[in-house]
Amino acid sequence: MSAIDPRKIHTRHDLTQQLAQLFRDGGWSIHRLAGKAGLSTATVQAILKDDALPQAKTLSAFVRACGQDPAPWVQARGRVVRSEQQAKQAGPVYLPYRSATFVGRGQALARLTAALPAPGAAGKAAGAGGVVVQAVHGLGGIGKSALVAHWAATHLAEHTLTWWITAETPAGIEQGLADLAVAVMPELAGQPLEALTAQAVRWLAGHTTWLLILDNVTAPAHIQPLLARAPTGRFLITSRLATGWHQITSAVVRLDVLEEDEALGLLTTIVTMARPGASLLGAARLCAELGYLPLAIEQAGAYLHQSGLAPLAYLDLLAGNPAVIYDQAAEGADAERTIARIWRATLDRLSDTPLAGQVLRILSWYASEAIPRTLLEEMGEPVLVQQAIGRLAAYNMITVADDDTLSLHHLVQAVARTPDPGDPHRAEADIQAAQNQAIRLLDDAIPANPKEPADWPQWRILLPHITALAGHLDITDATDVLAHLLNESGLFLRDQGAITRAISHFQRTHAASTQSLGADHPSTLTSRNNLAYAYQTAGDLERAILLFEHNLADRERILGTDHPSTLTSRNNLASAYESAGDLKRAIPLFEH
Ligand SMILES: Nc1ncnc2c1ncn2[C@@H]1O[C@H](COP(=O)(O)OP(=O)(O)OP(=O)(O)O)[C@@H](O)[C@H]1O
Ligand SMILES: [Mg+2]
Repeated sequence: MSAIDPRKIHTRHDLTQQLAQLFRDGGWSIHRLAGKAGLSTATVQAILKDDALPQAKTLSAFVRACGQDPAPWVQARGRVVRSEQQAKQAGPVYLPYRSATFVGRGQALARLTAALPAPGAAGKAAGAGGVVVQAVHGLGGIGKSALVAHWAATHLAEHTLTWWITAETPAGIEQGLADLAVAVMPELAGQPLEALTAQAVRWLAGHTTWLLILDNVTAPAHIQPLLARAPTGRFLITSRLATGWHQITSAVVRLDVLEEDEALGLLTTIVTMARPGASLLGAARLCAELGYLPLAIEQAGAYLHQSGLAPLAYLDLLAGNPAVIYDQAAEGADAERTIARIWRATLDRLSDTPLAGQVLRILSWYASEAIPRTLLEEMGEPVLVQQAIGRLAAYNMITVADDDTLSLHHLVQAVARTPDPGDPHRAEADIQAAQNQAIRLLDDAIPANPKEPADWPQWRILLPHITALAGHLDITDATDVLAHLLNESGLFLRDQGAITRAISHFQRTHAASTQSLGADHPSTLTSRNNLAYAYQTAGDLERAILLFEHNLADRERILGTDHPSTLTSRNNLASAYESAGDLKRAIPLFEH
């Protein structure tokens, strides 16, 4: 349920939403509320319509009847009126990307306000003394355009013009400038593009305190000439690019995912918009699964809204048909704006860096944070590997921390692990190859002896990635390398006392070894022994004894009754019997 809070009201739309929520929460009928508030039913109906702006007295009566203090609501109404008046005084505005359900981002908005203070508020930065450029960068779908649009819409009155240009290509920039020229000088309509662009630049250079938003810049070089020729206003830039801004501006904001409660608020608002009673079962889990990425949350919300499904059901769909869900836009929404497609576009851009896709696919099998960069050293020609890491970071697909570890969004990983025949970067064979390589790179990186204390820090660095990898694999994804990796890490965990986790490693080792090497292979028998011993340590003697019995029988059959390994097996089984208090069976074995 979206929380009722009149302080959050900034627009007519916000006001209607909150009043409607108040009405719903109280379980009112129009008739009853009208009676209680002393208003006509037509007035109550009008209040609940979008774009209504009730008189202060009417609003007070409505809110009071709902049991709330009218004061903050009347204040909110005042805010709406003032901002509408300011907007009227503002110059031409073109802001195509306004989100009606904008949530959170307090810090990022405050940073924009600090970098672009109201004219007259702080000398040079106010715009009159020179150009002010602020860039917002981040992963595709993280909410850069939404943030900038929201900021611009709430600062209209401070600008003589607020203009949005989709700046993906030089042609787009030219077209945006031409549209601007016609907006400020309608008499120019019909002139050739080039002339209009020149006029727009001239207009910008001759005016101050305008705000030009250059959305989705793909190369700083595309906008440099414009910045140089229009030195008196404010540019707000968004881009997926993390680097290359130093020549243009030092004011750079990197946008991260939404906070947990913001994401939940967004999902809730979208889902309950037209269905106040819609089920929100599993909403928090879904937000976590989507890594709090606004685009994914919005995509999921729209789907739930349309289908009437609960978030829990969406989670099932996601588990069952990830490729379809990642690429599904809501009805009426831009089909190109799905998480699968926007990241594909980034990888297309990186196609001149051959290892970029491969690095991303390998990283997708590990934990999403603190992946040692050194893990990738052996995957190819070092200079090419480093180039791929650098470019992925430049495009915000991964981040490189100061301690030289790599991180990437949980959902970027999930998409990169999901085969899709329609996406050249996600061919099944490439994903499988990356999985095998991810296993091999980890197996090469683990220390030789799990008992060596000097190596324990290295184990602790690698373990989260081994665990994540194992969690992503099917029991059928079994290779001897995987078996080795899980066995060694299982031994480490066991010696550290993490017996439950050790057991899960040994179970997987045993399954992988049985599948890849066969049930009678010495390594398979060793892994069964390790598993049995781990069960015994955990006090699960029943399971331990079953496996030790199995092992002894197999070793007697394969190696003979007197082989040293058979003797070990017999001894192990005897100890397990003894621990279980079954001396009748233990003693003959010890005496054997
Ligand atoms: N703070 C927010 N509140 C509500 N919705 C948001 C918020 N941020 C983003 N969204 C929604 O999530 C979607 C993705 O956001 P947006 O388009 O701003 O991402 P972007 O970072 O600009 O992506 P791209 O790199 O592809 O341009 C949009 O539909 C937007 O409305
Ligand atoms: Mg954008």
